[in-house]
Amino acid sequence: MRVLVIGSGAREHALCLALAADPSVTALVCAPGNAGTVAIAEQRGVDPLDPAAVAALARDVAADLVVVGPEAPLVAGVADAVRAAGIACFGPSGAAAQLEGSKAFAKDVMAAAAVPPAAARVCTTEAEAAAALDEFGPPYVVKDDGLAAGKGVVVTSDRAEALAHAVACERVVVEEYLDGPEVSLFCVTDGTAVVPLVPAQDFKRIGDDDTGPNTGGMGAYAPLPWLPAGLTDDVVRTVARPTVAEMARRGTQFSGLLYIGLALTARGPRVVEFNARFGDPETQVVLALLETPLGGLLQAAADGTLADQPLLRWRPGSAVTVVLAAANYPGTPRTGDVITGSEQAGVVHAGTRVRDDGAVVSSGGRVLSITATGASLAAARERAYALLATVDLPGGQHRTDIAAKAVAGQVAVPLLP
Ligand code: AMP
Ligand code: GLY
Repeated sequence: MRVLVIGSGAREHALCLALAADPSVTALVCAPGNAGTVAIAEQRGVDPLDPAAVAALARDVAADLVVVGPEAPLVAGVADAVRAAGIACFGPSGAAAQLEGSKAFAKDVMAAAAVPPAAARVCTTEAEAAAALDEFGPPYVVKDDGLAAGKGVVVTSDRAEALAHAVACERVVVEEYLDGPEVSLFCVTDGTAVVPLVPAQDFKRIGDDDTGPNTGGMGAYAPLPWLPAGLTDDVVRTVARPTVAEMARRGTQFSGLLYIGLALTARGPRVVEFNARFGDPETQVVLALLETPLGGLLQAAADGTLADQPLLRWRPGSAVTVVLAAANYPGTPRTGDVITGSEQAGVVHAGTRVRDDGAVVSSGGRVLSITATGASLAAARERAYALLATVDLPGGQHRTDIAAKAVAGQVAVPLLP
């Protein structure tokens, strides 16, 4: 099978690493890729947001399967164009990707599917936003309705800041604050069958102890030792299957990866967000533990034969990834810094490129995702940080507390009803 991966982040490098290890994958192409994917996949240039160009590339490289990594190409209709060209694609149609592309649409689907939501109001005027803020009270949660790379959400106890964010966006969703540990559950689906992957936890804030602004994600670990037994099955039954069924009922079948972002609140699991693709950096830890060949799994989802797939096999142990971000991220990141040590196993590349002189330099906000596995979560965490210490990015920032609370048994899980 010839596979084309679209994207250039750590998620795409992690996908390429897993696909390269699948014996059924005979050729791997990544477009546009980064300095990490170049070592394991043929690199091609493409504008990932141009559906016709991606479909033409897929034909040109004789792809049997196209795997679309990021959300923006999906929302732009890249999967539609690839399928229209007669090529199998892992990733939802543009219409189905609205599950991530519009928070208001996602709320509507959740309501129709009877998925327990966070209470929310869609607001387009300052007066509406002010009323919604006062209805829910602090801490305030204000979300840009459109795609914002994980940075469109403001969570604050400062009413003026919350209102200012609402005014700065055209349309926002104001939401009740969900208190409880977060879980990222990835579900592979072909539009009917749903196969959950191992749950992971992401760290969204830039600073240790969850301080500072939100980012795309600064680290992750899996599995979650504190997760109540049966939680994954419950979420598949009460969230994933009803959502997938509702999308099919609407004529916008969702196939690909349904990312369910949950908060475990005292009232039960609540959906914080849906995404229409693999999460980053959670993918790095989830795929590090997946033993089942990835290509066959993604192909089955694309072909509608997921129900025939054997049960997934997982490696024992844990995985931890720590993101090394550029100076000034999540603001405008400094780029062009020379990175050393990035060629080592476990160093997953995000915003990197190979300069003309052969040096690997930073080219984005999240630069590397340093990933390790271990027999225990503590061992995986130690290895990830030991590996990080051998990599140099001038001005680089990273959190020092990824998976620390879980290792110490300090993740407080409310008693679920
Ligand atoms: P989102 O883009 O919806 O994933 O939001 C980004 C991050 O903001 C989430 O991962 C949470 O950490 C936080 N967040 C979003 N919605 C809520 C909420 N209703 N209550 C508390 N935190 C939230
Ligand atoms: N890690 C969060 C996301 O991929 O949206």
